[in-house]
Amino acid sequence: MSFKEKIIKEKLPLHIAVIMDGNGRWAQKRGNKRVFGHKNGVAAVRDTVEAAAELGLEYLTLYAFSTENWNRPRTEIDALMSLLVATINKEMKTLLDNNVRLLTIGDIGSLPVSVSDKLKIAVEKTAVCGGLKLILALSYSSRWEIVNAVRNIAVKIESGELKSQDIDRRIFEQFLNTAGIPEPELLIRTSGEYRLSNFLLWQMAYTELYFTGTLWPDFRREDLYKAIVNFQSRERRFGKTSKQIKKNIKVDC
Ligand code: FPP
Repeated sequence: MSFKEKIIKEKLPLHIAVIMDGNGRWAQKRGNKRVFGHKNGVAAVRDTVEAAAELGLEYLTLYAFSTENWNRPRTEIDALMSLLVATINKEMKTLLDNNVRLLTIGDIGSLPVSVSDKLKIAVEKTAVCGGLKLILALSYSSRWEIVNAVRNIAVKIESGELKSQDIDRRIFEQFLNTAGIPEPELLIRTSGEYRLSNFLLWQMAYTELYFTGTLWPDFRREDLYKAIVNFQSRERRFGKTSKQIKKNIKVDC
């Protein structure tokens, strides 16, 4: 029985987040420059997105460029930015054909105008799509996002639009980049590293973590199916007991 056949359709995670790691090592193992790994990582992105859309997944977030990635060599940053523009150009039709809506999180204003303009157009064009929501995290980090949220809340308090005593979890979440997006139920990180790397730290308080040694350019739909099957075998207790969960007692965390 293949991993795909083992997936219980009614128990799909609502939202999967992915830390696509290992491009550089994949290239270096082949005696190539790191950029070669990023280029080959695009095939993994395509296959993962297609498989997610086919399965009927609602949200898929890909960590494509972190705030910290700005510290990489200029040539690598430029190559990644060009790759983004080229990929969006090439994949627009496929996104529309597969009913995939593109969204972004992160400091999009810090990206080169050629990238932010392209993203804006792609987000607008796919706004009509009602299938998978594909969220690209670009120039994103959780600490940046949380500090930004706190600053914006402070502005509202200063202007009298918000009262400090009214701030609770729900209000705070409205100020995050992910407002309106359900938190990930499953995180996949490739390349054998066991870290969250400043990714969706608030949102992943109760996310199931799945680590695989596969380097991102080698990641394919079978790997996604395997991660989902693993997720479906877990009992999510949210601090409650196994007995309470089996009795289906409502959980609000
Ligand atoms: C991490 O591998 C990967 C990145 C920083 C970039 C991810 C980009 C892509 C997969 C290509 C384009 C993406 C889209 C959405 C079109 P690494 O460079 O840190 O690898 P290493 O840990 O082996 O050095």
